[in-house]
Amino acid sequence: MIVTTGGRYNDETLSKAKDIARRYNIKFVMRKKRAVEEMKTHYDDDIIVVGNDEISISPKEKVAVKYHPNFALVRAKRLLNKEKDALIEAAELESGMSFLDCTMGLAADSVIASLAAGPAGKVIALERSFIIYLTTREGLASYDTNIKEIDDAMRRVETIHQDYTDYLKTCSDNSFDIVYFDPMFTSEISSSQSLRAIEKVTHNESLNKEAVDEAKRVARRKVVLKDHFRSTRFEEFGFKQHIRKTSKVHYGVISMNSEFDF
Ligand SMILES: C[S@@+](CC[C@H](N)C(=O)[O-])C[C@H]1O[C@@H](n2cnc3c(N)ncnc32)[C@H](O)[C@@H]1O
Repeated sequence: MIVTTGGRYNDETLSKAKDIARRYNIKFVMRKKRAVEEMKTHYDDDIIVVGNDEISISPKEKVAVKYHPNFALVRAKRLLNKEKDALIEAAELESGMSFLDCTMGLAADSVIASLAAGPAGKVIALERSFIIYLTTREGLASYDTNIKEIDDAMRRVETIHQDYTDYLKTCSDNSFDIVYFDPMFTSEISSSQSLRAIEKVTHNESLNKEAVDEAKRVARRKVVLKDHFRSTRFEEFGFKQHIRKTSKVHYGVISMNSEFDF
């Protein structure tokens, strides 16, 4: 993987690109007006392009991945308007709680959880694909939505490049209020358009019992699964499926302790 700037860049962008190269220990090369495709062929490698406003990653022979809060922004604005959000409802996530997002992706759900948990809460997001991790981590750190509460919520998400089963094994019992999974849909069910764009660089292994068992040990209140309404994973792993008549995406919940069930 190598880092370069966008075609037109200023001093700030140049130093940001060099800083990313240094922090992730990736080689920096000057753009020298070359097309990204030309650089991919020349270096035979994935190219991270640091533009003046955004970062994109152009993996070899694959489509470019860019950070954009997309749907998170619509949901975040609704939440700020005191409207309901299906994830927050299913998780019963409240201000001050801790939320472990095992499948960060482009972090739409992490940002919503961070907004709901507030500055007194904590959101940690795990991602196994390095390309997605880097894109999302840098996007969360620098994307400007012009809405302070949402920008602050993005900055508060703590990102970790790690497999969720490995991470969960390092956590002590009851160390997060909520543990959350949003795995890629299984092959029989096609992904949403936004996920189809990044599918080639995501980690697509299905959820397994070991991870769910670890999550049940780590979660103080709930383990939550987001999946297609036809998914067999709700039943397979014991999640109570919350039926949403207007959406193909459903949430499943395992409640850990009746003490917390109201
Ligand atoms: C459906 S996407 C999550 C979308 C995310 N909820 C959002 O709001 O943008 C699933 C993500 O989980 C990641 N993933 C899959 N298996 C993983 C694992 N074992 N450990 C960590 N991340 C994993 C994939 O690479 C992908 O980026």
